[in-house]
Amino acid sequence: MNKPVAVITGAASGIGRATALRFLDEGHRVAALDRSQAGLANLQQSQPGDDIKTYVCDLVETDQLPALADRMIDELGPPRVLVNNAGICLYADIADTTDDMWLRSLNVNLVSAASLIRGLVPAMKTVEGGAIVNVASRNALSSSPRAATYDASKAGLLALTRTMAVELGGDGIRVNALIPGFIDTPVHGDLLEDEVFAENYRKLIPLNRFGSPDDMANIICFLASEKAAFITGQGIIADGGQISGQNYAKMFGNRESFVSRQLDND
Ligand code: NAI
Repeated sequence: MNKPVAVITGAASGIGRATALRFLDEGHRVAALDRSQAGLANLQQSQPGDDIKTYVCDLVETDQLPALADRMIDELGPPRVLVNNAGICLYADIADTTDDMWLRSLNVNLVSAASLIRGLVPAMKTVEGGAIVNVASRNALSSSPRAATYDASKAGLLALTRTMAVELGGDGIRVNALIPGFIDTPVHGDLLEDEVFAENYRKLIPLNRFGSPDDMANIICFLASEKAAFITGQGIIADGGQISGQNYAKMFGNRESFVSRQLDND
């Protein structure tokens, strides 16, 4: 029997790479998309056999994506799974953002997802258990300064997730989003080597650690699996509890003023 096919964008690094490896482990063939030729070559070399096919592409160029979708269908057959994972974050004060930044952020983080869905869905409808997972961000729900292009594009991706779930549910295609918190991937460069930053940021996370690419791959594979057969249109927040609230004692220490106030309220 033919193995099911999973299409994964941003597969050369971080969450996308871990997800590609997980789908391969779980018996899928993988179409791995990325702009990094070297990163895709590295991924392919790490895998014996021919279950992985790589496609170098720039997701800014959304007009190229319908043809790419057709090519993947020709070469691998109709996909069961699409993971829209690639993303970029371009920081700038709002007054310094440019049309080019908006175009690049929106195209990579949102429009490319819609274009790939558009191109692949007719073929996905012919396969049992179709599933789309969009990788958004906690910034879609809780914003940071200087991140307008990112936050708006990721919020748009959550809206796209809901609309697609409603539109494609009748075709048996489920559409969900993963909403990651701080995940230790190459996108952060050497930021986590800054001990002061890392220690302070961990105080914001009830589970007291950063997420790993494997943590995210677990959830993406779950959402794409039969185990999630009755879940669609949802965003699963995986942030170690950060968005749920904050532990002030952990952030500021057991300050006398704060502790006595808590005791008074008992
Ligand atoms: P990463 O930088 O390790 O991987 C992203 C991949 O996307 C890279 O291989 C990159 O080459 C590819 N990519 C970027 N622009 C592209 C383009 N124009 N065309 C084709 N490929 C392109 O990043 P990471 O952390 O694995 O991020 C994956 C997703 O998770 C992104 O959508 C990101 O916004 C999201 N996310 C990550 C968080 C984190 O803390 N790492 C937090 C919240 C969301």
